[in-house]
This record gives sequence, structure tokens and C-alpha cells, in this order.
Amino acid sequence: MNDSNKQLMELYVKKIDEQLLKFTEEKPELQGIVLEAMEYSLTAGGKRLRPMLMLEFYRMCGGKELDDMLKLACSVELIHTYSLIHDDLPCMDDDDFRRGKPSCHKAFSEDIALLAGDALNTLAFEVISDCAVEGTIPPEKAVMLISVLSKAIGTSGMIGGQVIDLETEDKEIDIDTLNVLQSYKTGALIEAACVMGVILAGKMELVPAAAEYAQAMGRAFQIVDDILDVTGTFEELGKPIGSDSEQHKNTYVSLLGLERSKQIASQLTVQALASLKAFDNNDYMTELTRDLLERRS
Ligand code: IPE
Ligand code: IPE
Ligand code: MG
Ligand code: MG
Ligand code: MG
Repeated sequence: MNDSNKQLMELYVKKIDEQLLKFTEEKPELQGIVLEAMEYSLTAGGKRLRPMLMLEFYRMCGGKELDDMLKLACSVELIHTYSLIHDDLPCMDDDDFRRGKPSCHKAFSEDIALLAGDALNTLAFEVISDCAVEGTIPPEKAVMLISVLSKAIGTSGMIGGQVIDLETEDKEIDIDTLNVLQSYKTGALIEAACVMGVILAGKMELVPAAAEYAQAMGRAFQIVDDILDVTGTFEELGKPIGSDSEQHKNTYVSLLGLERSKQIASQLTVQALASLKAFDNNDYMTELTRDLLERRS
């Protein structure tokens, strides 16, 4: 990444981190523990990819005053963090580390981690609707955002993907089923983030191009996640490696092997880059998309 794009990324991460902290500032005495657990997972780090995508698609579509959109962009990070807390639970992937720290259920307890995930999910929709109530965005836009986000994380989106992921452990599946699994569990929220940015900027004609980009990039992103589960280190990833094979998951690597998985991830990245051509000012997104293929964390 060139220096100015690197600086832009650092600025995004800084602003997103600052905004995320604000959501859990108040911790009422009786139920404060759940806010502590939410804060613990929200502030543990993370690439902040999804809110960054929303802000960048907004910007590429001519959106102004990005700072006013930060809260909205963080709604997708709230959802993502909830999904990670639940994904790590013993009844799911049973992983004890996340973002370089003990998983939420290890630092707190299983019941509080479950509720912290639930609360983050609810908070995301509170944030979006409040932005309309406070007048940051028109109510019609808030309804569109809520519609896109809720569909993306429901039974034909992230939750659907997680269910297929669990139900197919220990079973042989074909590549088409794996594609559905991966695009639901990971691609759908990434797509929502990009599309929400476009909607915020009011460029509805660019929604299909954003969706096309995100479907290709989202699949590449999950393939790289699967590859890193085999080739990464705990220090790089901040989460246990070898978790997929331990849980007998179907992944690109288990179905097609490392080399073929890498090839498919690069092909998908090329496709994603082609979709970006529909957008002006796509320099940052172009570099980010290329870098995601080579990421080590
Ligand atoms: C991890 O997501 C889970 C997947 C959907 C592959 P990220 O790799 O974006 O995790 P963080 O947010 O950087 O921790
Ligand atoms: C997680 O996929 C997807 C969601 C959280 C929805 P993984 O189970 O592969 O994610 P990691 O590898 O634990 O981050
Ligand atoms: Mg999982
Ligand atoms: Mg997992
Ligand atoms: Mg994984």
C-alpha cells in the first residue's frame, strides 16, 4: 500500500476505534458486566474491515462528511464482533483466543459472552434507527439500511451460513454447497457493508456493482481465512490455528487443497477488482482489495 493509503487506513481504524469505545461508556452497576464484555471484545483489535468498506463505498459514491457516518459504519462492526463472540463459544467452534486475547467466554463466562453477543446485535439496530431519530439520515434511508443489514445476517445470510457450517461438520459436501456456506457466513455481511455505503450516498444505481464486488471479495476473504488457519501462526492471527481441521470443518483447503484455494482466491480478487472499475476514486479500495489477498492476519 502506498504511504497516503496507509495513512488513510490508519485514520479509519483510529476513528472507528474511538467511535466503538463510545458505545459502552456507561456501565450501570447491576448489568455493567455485560457492557464490560462487549467493550472487551470490541476493543480487542481487529482489522475493522467492514466499517471501512462502508465508509469507502460511501466516499467513492461521492458521500461527504464521513465523520457523521462513523456511528452508522460501526453498526456492521458491532454485528461482526457479536458473530465472533458466538462463533468462539464451546457449542460453536470452541476457540479460546480471539484477536490475540482470551475469547469473550474465557475472559468472562459463557452466559455473559452469549448475552454480550446478543446485546451487540441489538445495539447495531438501535444505532441505525437512532441516526434517523436524531436527524443524521432520513428515516427512509435508515429503513433501507436496516432491511439490508437484517437480511444479511439472517437465515439466508450469516446465521444461515453458520448453521450450514455446523451441520456439515464431519460430512462430505460439494463445492457448490461450500460456496453457499462461505458466501452466507462471511460474504453476506461484507456485501451489506458495501451496499450500505452506497445507499447512504444515495447512488442506488451502483448497488449492483457494489454487491458484485463484495460477493467476489467476500469469497476470496473467507478462502484466505481458511488458508491462514493452516499456514498462519497464532502470533499473526491472534486466534488458534488448525481450528478448522480440529472441528472437521469443510473449507476450501480441505476440499481443494492449498494451491487450488490460493488460485481461486486470486481469480476472485481479479473479479472483485474489475467490479471496482464502476466507481470513481477507487484507488484506496483497489489497493486494499489486493492487500487482502496477501494478508497474514
Ligand atoms: C474473521 O473476520 C472471521 C471471518 C468472517 C473470516 P476478520 O478476519 O475480519 O476478523 P477481525 O475483525 O480482523 O478480527
Ligand atoms: C466465522 O468463520 C464466520 C462468522 C463469524 C460469521 P470462521 O469460524 O472461519 O471464523 P474464524 O476463523 O473463527 O475467525
Ligand atoms: Mg466458525
Ligand atoms: Mg471460528
Ligand atoms: Mg476461520
